[in-house]
Amino acid sequence: MNKSVVYMIAFVIIFVFVLVSVHSQEDMERVDNSVFKNPERPSALFRHDEHNENADIENCSECHHLYEDGQMIEDGSSEDQHCSDCHALKASDSIPALRKAFHMNCKGCHLEQKQGPVTCGECHKK
Ligand code: HEC
Ligand code: HEC
Ligand code: HEC
Ligand code: HEC
Repeated sequence: MNKSVVYMIAFVIIFVFVLVSVHSQEDMERVDNSVFKNPERPSALFRHDEHNENADIENCSECHHLYEDGQMIEDGSSEDQHCSDCHALKASDSIPALRKAFHMNCKGCHLEQKQGPVTCGECHKK
């Protein structure tokens, strides 16, 4: 095989690897806020894997839930989707708006468990 072809293939493999690793939840530091037009605040701190380990959350569907006909599916998970795929910027029927969905989920659990940040500046840190 031609040397430059080998280099090309190696380059593509490395490039794909980097892309995949950059976009995995292990490396997440903050929640992506790009779906909000003109975000008012710095995006919220959320080190995905570290957070869930420290908080002792085993069930992915605690956050990545799946509903069918208004019923939550017990073992279903929507981890392959963004919250914004189902939660629009405006609420519709029983589906809370995206911002509210995040606040209910994150802050809701912190309040319930009396652990984790509940003030604006603690989550939306610069
Ligand atoms: C437990 C963490 C947490 C707390 C506490 C919290 N937020 Fe958020 N908030 C989030 C997350 C997660 C999002 C989703 C997008 C992001 O990261 O900004 C969000 C989104 C938002 C958005 C929409 C995106 C934007 O920047 O325009 C606003 C506005 C907002 N929050 C304001 C507030 C205000 C005001 C408070 C205090 C009353 C607050 N938040 C408290 C986690 C939190
Ligand atoms: C405490 C809430 C929470 C738990 C528990 C949770 N996640 Fe997530 N996860 C999130 C949030 C928030 C996002 C960002 C979603 C968005 O941008 O719409 C996310 C994103 C992801 C992504 C996409 C990563 C990316 O960069 O796009 C994957 C994959 C994922 N989670 C897998 C999992 C798996 C697997 C589990 C269970 C072992 C899990 N999550 C548990 C909150 C959670
Ligand atoms: C596959 C679609 C889908 C995805 C993805 C999704 N949701 Fe939901 N979510 C729903 C539906 C549908 C409801 C309304 C359920 C009902 O009818 O009561 C809901 C309700 C909620 C509620 C209010 C009820 C409750 O469970 O407390 C919160 C909070 C919420 N979602 C947060 C989130 C967050 C945060 C994410 C991303 C990590 C997310 N959702 C991803 C479909 C989805
Ligand atoms: C099911 C419960 C639960 C949910 C849902 C949850 N948290 Fe937490 N969170 C906790 C607990 C428990 C702690 C304290 C863990 C510890 O001692 O470090 C915590 C701690 C934190 C901390 C401080 C420690 C750290 O990891 O930096 C941040 C920031 C945080 N959560 C952000 C979020 C955001 C943003 C969301 C929503 C996307 C969220 N949490 C959803 C339970 C939860």
